[in-house]
Amino acid sequence: MNSLIIFFSYTGRTHYEAKRLWERVGGALYEIWEQKHRSRLSAYLFGPGQARRRAVPVIEPVAVSLDEYDKIYILCPIWGGWPAPAFNAIVRELTPGADVELIFTSDSGRMKDINAVAKRVELQGVRVTGAKVVKTENLMKRERRHFKKSRKTKREAKNG
Ligand SMILES: Cc1cc2nc3c(=O)[nH]c(=O)nc-3n(C[C@H](O)[C@H](O)[C@H](O)COP(=O)(O)O)c2cc1C
Repeated sequence: MNSLIIFFSYTGRTHYEAKRLWERVGGALYEIWEQKHRSRLSAYLFGPGQARRRAVPVIEPVAVSLDEYDKIYILCPIWGGWPAPAFNAIVRELTPGADVELIFTSDSGRMKDINAVAKRVELQGVRVTGAKVVKTENLMKRERRHFKKSRKTKREAKNG
């Protein structure tokens, strides 16, 4: 199966999740960028409203053809309960036929109507085979554990 992991990340947590997924399932990993950089202040001030209204921001040209993949994972943070606006730009890139898995990240591990979001994605002619929210609040703790473990493995490897 030819799979693509496509994601947007504003503060790096979704990037971390996408990489962990990529280590597990392989395939291609691709990061989406909004053309206009958001300051923290404007992200918090305007982002949630745009997310709720399902605004579609201008993104940098997408250099992968989504129609070449039969399994597509979309990862995106939650802003004000809804997928960050970049999600809507990613969904527009979808072409009919693929199996799509949605993975959202949020501090609380919660979001507004995930089923409605999945249904909207299916309007693109794809099949949503999974949709979940990952809690990232304690990500740094997990990340530290992850690094400690990998250091330990390296040490053990060195000591034979
Ligand atoms: C503008 C903005 C709004 C957010 N709104 C929510 C929210 O409503 N609920 C929540 O649990 N987390 C919220 N968060 C936290 C992010 O969803 C969470 O930290 C996410 O994992 C960040 O992903 P990133 O580092 O890839 O950008 C918000 C973050 C930002 C920047």
